[in-house]
Amino acid sequence: MDFCNIFDAHAHYDDKWFDDDRFELLDGMQSRGVCGIVNNAVDLRTAKICIDYAEKYDFMYAAVGFHPENLTDLPDDYLESLARLAGHKKVVAIGETGLDYHWDIPKDLQKRVFEEQIRLALDLKKPLVVHDREAHGDTMDLLKRYKPKALIHCFSGSVEMMRECVKLGMYISLGGAVTFKNARRAVEIAEEVPIDRLLLETDAPYMAPVPFRGKRCDSSMIVCTAEKTAALRKMKTQELLDITRQNAEAFYNFQPAAQSIHSANT
Ligand code: NI
Repeated sequence: MDFCNIFDAHAHYDDKWFDDDRFELLDGMQSRGVCGIVNNAVDLRTAKICIDYAEKYDFMYAAVGFHPENLTDLPDDYLESLARLAGHKKVVAIGETGLDYHWDIPKDLQKRVFEEQIRLALDLKKPLVVHDREAHGDTMDLLKRYKPKALIHCFSGSVEMMRECVKLGMYISLGGAVTFKNARRAVEIAEEVPIDRLLLETDAPYMAPVPFRGKRCDSSMIVCTAEKTAALRKMKTQELLDITRQNAEAFYNFQPAAQSIHSANT
């Protein structure tokens, strides 16, 4: 069966794994039902590439930010550079940014740069895409303090943490992990998260869902994640794709969603 309204809330098409056939792959995306992709930067170099892709393809959008794994050689004026890039009309968010305690990266530096990017997102009135790996406590401390409009990508926390995020107005995005055999937590979140706060993503080229696990992931594979999530929630896959597209457009402040909300209120 063919699906439509596949919105990939978080991907990295600048990754070298796509070097051989990137544009052929992206040229065929819409014919496979993909209606939107937010490509996330991890530093200034990739931020510029994300904007190039967003200029080339109507359905692609960019998030600009510094990933916690990319903080060596952080330029002193990186915030000014991000602010300038964020002025581009297809930059829809600041990200990806956050905390990663899996790797041995100085925590003070990570926390400072995450906090600075939260403040930047608030100043620019842009949503924030958050990476949280094995750093739930410190991530939540900062998010509770500033209350940005945030998406926790590849959410890996508990149901309790998810509920706290939802209470703070945040969104949760789930990727291929929902389909993994050992992913009891991701499955619980897929069942429990309020439907109006759920987004789907790939984090392509990584985290390919079953039956593609271990292979290079692309946005069309979201269908596998959607099928599993829809089955858990006892709903139709296309219905879930329709709703998660609407949620993504609401989270990223797309014009059509903003207009319909506006006209509904007046
Ligand atoms: Ni990512």
